[in-house]
Amino acid sequence: MTEGTRPPAAAAFDAIGAAYEQAFAGSAAHRESLTRLLERLDPRSRVLDVGSGTGRPTAAALADAGHDVLGVDVSPVMVELASRRVPGASFRCADIRALPLEPGALDAVCVYFALLQMSRGEQTRLVHRLAGALRPGGRLVLATVPLDVEEVDAEFMGQRVRVTSFGPEALVALVAGAGLTVEWERHTVFTPDRPGAAPEPQLFLHCTRG
Ligand SMILES: C[S@@+](CC[C@H](N)C(=O)[O-])C[C@H]1O[C@@H](n2cnc3c(N)ncnc32)[C@H](O)[C@@H]1O
Repeated sequence: MTEGTRPPAAAAFDAIGAAYEQAFAGSAAHRESLTRLLERLDPRSRVLDVGSGTGRPTAAALADAGHDVLGVDVSPVMVELASRRVPGASFRCADIRALPLEPGALDAVCVYFALLQMSRGEQTRLVHRLAGALRPGGRLVLATVPLDVEEVDAEFMGQRVRVTSFGPEALVALVAGAGLTVEWERHTVFTPDRPGAAPEPQLFLHCTRG
């Protein structure tokens, strides 16, 4: 990808790098969500971690538990960090929106806070494709900032970003429309560990494919 055609998320998260992990490491809800997923996975499950960031905590927790983990991230800096931090998982630098996914091949997919730089149409299409990549009974964990906003310019950790998301009801309707059943829903507010950071709402959904 040349600089002009790179997705904006790649530039933003290349610049943020390891500081993201430091700011969000204290999230009890993220850890609770991972613990809940780990309790339900069969041994050696095949798991895709979408927007894998530095690899911690998600890919690390899954790989440490013996699962077969592929993390995909559009930021080369994040992929480099994750590959070093989590040698027990595989990482690939790619835009998940363009990555072909084999139907029914995965036991679980994690998407922790990776949708926010995509349009609503892209988020919807991606969740449908991820649901289709799960085997029947497979699990999707989706966490996001559940705000009814579209193409809003914001500053995130010192970077200019354009944010799009859904409110909680619309997000639940989106996953239901993709053929998923929500079996657990956790709403929380988290303040990143960073000077001047504001509290942000967070929603964690655990879903299964029927
Ligand atoms: C807010 S960070 C979250 C990282 C990690 N999931 C976590 O919760 O610790 C979002 C990550 O998603 C990645 N990302 C954003 N858009 C993406 C896309 N279209 N394809 C792949 N990765 C993407 C970013 O590069 C970034 O590393």
